[in-house]
Amino acid sequence: MEENKTTPAPTPEVLQREISLILEDFKKDRENLIPILHRVAERFGYISSQALYEITAQTSIPVAEVFSVATFYRMLPTQERGRHVILFCESLPCHVVGGRELFHALQSELQLEPGQTSPDNRWTLLTTSCLGVCDFGPVISIDGNIHGNLTPESLPEVLSKYQ
Ligand code: FES
Repeated sequence: MEENKTTPAPTPEVLQREISLILEDFKKDRENLIPILHRVAERFGYISSQALYEITAQTSIPVAEVFSVATFYRMLPTQERGRHVILFCESLPCHVVGGRELFHALQSELQLEPGQTSPDNRWTLLTTSCLGVCDFGPVISIDGNIHGNLTPESLPEVLSKYQ
């Protein structure tokens, strides 16, 4: 399994230049704020508050709007994440086929609460609504890879593939 690398924090000059390029692609249009934020997250690994201020500085979008959109959408990372991001499906269809037990096992294995990143930067644990593969519940996604029909017993082997 390929290992993700954490992106080092960009200098203010790099941040300014890269965000300027991203905004050009979206014509600095506030209608495109969500795709702009996604692109910034892709480029830097997460959306820092410096990046949010830079978007505001280079557009006419008010700072409060930029911050509220970035923090409202849970899929937009506003904090640095670990090398591997786990999305745990907390919707009912997964819940009733063992999701609750799986979540306890996951928390026990990682020693993390949702939204936290492990001290060794290996894991970030997030919860999400339905991932669209309910027939395979309970389900987690790791770095976008779906792992279904998981049990507390099968979980350690799956996690061991992500170092
Ligand atoms: S409810 Fe979990 S994937 Fe749909």
